[in-house]
Amino acid sequence: AHKKITKVCCLGAGYVGSPTSAVIAHKSGDLQVTIADISTERISRWINATNEKELPIYEPGLFDVLECRGRNLHFTADIDKAIEEADLIFVSVNTPTKKKGMGAGFAADLGYVESATRRIAKVATSDKIVVEKSTVPCRTAQSMRKILEANGKPGVHFDILSNPEFLAEGTAIKDLLSPDRVLIGSLDNDRGKSAAASLAEIYANWVPRERIITTNVWSSELSKLVANALLAQRISSINAVSAICEATGADVDEVAYACGLDTRIGPKFLKASVGFGGSCFQKDILNLVYLSESLHLPEVAAYWKQVVDMNEYQKSRFTKRVIQSLFNTLTGKKIALFGFAFKKDTGDTRESAAIALAKNFVQEQCQVSIYDPKVEEQQIWLDLSEPGVDSSLTEAKKYVTIAKDAFEAAKDADAIVIATEWDAFKDTELDYEKIYEQMNKPAFIFDGRLILDSKKLEKMGFKVEVIGKTRSELSFE
Ligand code: UDX
Ligand code: UDX
Ligand code: ADP
Repeated sequence: AHKKITKVCCLGAGYVGSPTSAVIAHKSGDLQVTIADISTERISRWINATNEKELPIYEPGLFDVLECRGRNLHFTADIDKAIEEADLIFVSVNTPTKKKGMGAGFAADLGYVESATRRIAKVATSDKIVVEKSTVPCRTAQSMRKILEANGKPGVHFDILSNPEFLAEGTAIKDLLSPDRVLIGSLDNDRGKSAAASLAEIYANWVPRERIITTNVWSSELSKLVANALLAQRISSINAVSAICEATGADVDEVAYACGLDTRIGPKFLKASVGFGGSCFQKDILNLVYLSESLHLPEVAAYWKQVVDMNEYQKSRFTKRVIQSLFNTLTGKKIALFGFAFKKDTGDTRESAAIALAKNFVQEQCQVSIYDPKVEEQQIWLDLSEPGVDSSLTEAKKYVTIAKDAFEAAKDADAIVIATEWDAFKDTELDYEKIYEQMNKPAFIFDGRLILDSKKLEKMGFKVEVIGKTRSELSFE
């Protein structure tokens, strides 16, 4: 028999913690859900937002599931009280890649997870189920368990579960409402299994039982890294093929379509692009690389590292194509960068390919005008300057401007570069004739996301260059 949970709390009101907790509350009327964060500013935005725009993150459908705010969904900065009252605690804090020290650039910085865990140990006066939700390297649950056991009050028992979140940004609410699977890892003993059953019961409020799977903790932790590595590998594979297409006259969309029809391969995650971004893919693969190295498996590490290397290559290859097409110099020219988020339907810019492109163009002493429908201006400046180096922001501001719409960005520009696949940038949505009139000639458009109808734009007069499609100067007739 397992314990029925009545109160849960979630530490971390970010991209993962908030949407997940909101959906849990929305689907479980008899459960009290509290989200706690160390940032009081963030918490007050979650509490006070009266519309989608005022929320700390943009996610389609998020505002609707927040309908239960004040009823069974609560936001607070009083972390200790939230911990104390909960039977089950999700730990959903940030796990950035380490910038310094051992494993810098590869290993995850577990400082936030550790401090949240220590807080739980210190505060708890009753038994708790502690759920590792943040994407973390294998064996983190073990470290959390040791910290809890060494620091908990006498007689207080902790059970550790791993319950990785598989949602993708931009479709978070949809993914949470009908997940392909919910994965719960527990210790292979009665207490562990009973804790897993308690958590499974919450998800069973809306997820079919056969999609809730339980494994041991290590399998659960590793599955999260591997799922992301396999997805990213598909993108790097098709991006590698895009380079072959450009050199041969094959069309990467046609190749992806033909291969994707084989059900063993399938059509998803075969969209060539200027490179994948986001907070997970690169981070998780590098975690996998680091893990492989720690296990003395250098060949395995090198194999996965290549997925990330291919992604870097794709970004620099695309930059080179822009420079070559613009007669080998960008100096003094103006480029309109359409999109700054790492994908459409999110305002998140973490590891976005657009950051690399903008920096590359600035290096070429080119004016860059950026327009993104959801990314906040402040965030763009943050991404384009080095942390703690004031002069890098001054330097960025010399070359970069932020436009209020696509027309302003493209005015007097020599080229448009599409970095994010926002629907608003499609030729069915945006008046490219009007944009063309206001650009320098020849007017170039570089489609890094394969969202445009090149023939239509060529008719307007544009010189169109698309990832994975023959360069116009090579044109096979
Ligand atoms: C393959 C392609 O499947 C087929 O579409 C193409 O036309 C020819 O090449 P084949 O080589 O006959 O066909 O067999 P396949 O079933 O693809 O298996 C290839 C190898 O992979 C076998 O050694 C098989 O045992 C192995 N395999 C397959 C695995 O090890 N794991 C798997 O999950 C699938
Ligand atoms: C990813 C995983 O999909 C999700 O399961 C995991 O929980 C978190 O990491 P996310 O990073 O939000 O989610 O977005 P995703 O849709 O996977 O896209 C990642 C990057 O790959 C984006 O930059 C996207 O534009 C790019 N991408 C995706 C492609 O370039 N081509 C594709 O075919 C798919
Ligand atoms: P993710 O994409 O993994 O959700 P985010 O950076 O969006 O990551 O969110 C993580 C959140 O966790 C941040 O809002 C941060 O303030 C919060 N956080 C970090 N440490 C703690 C902690 N010890 N207790 C509660 N919240 C924390």
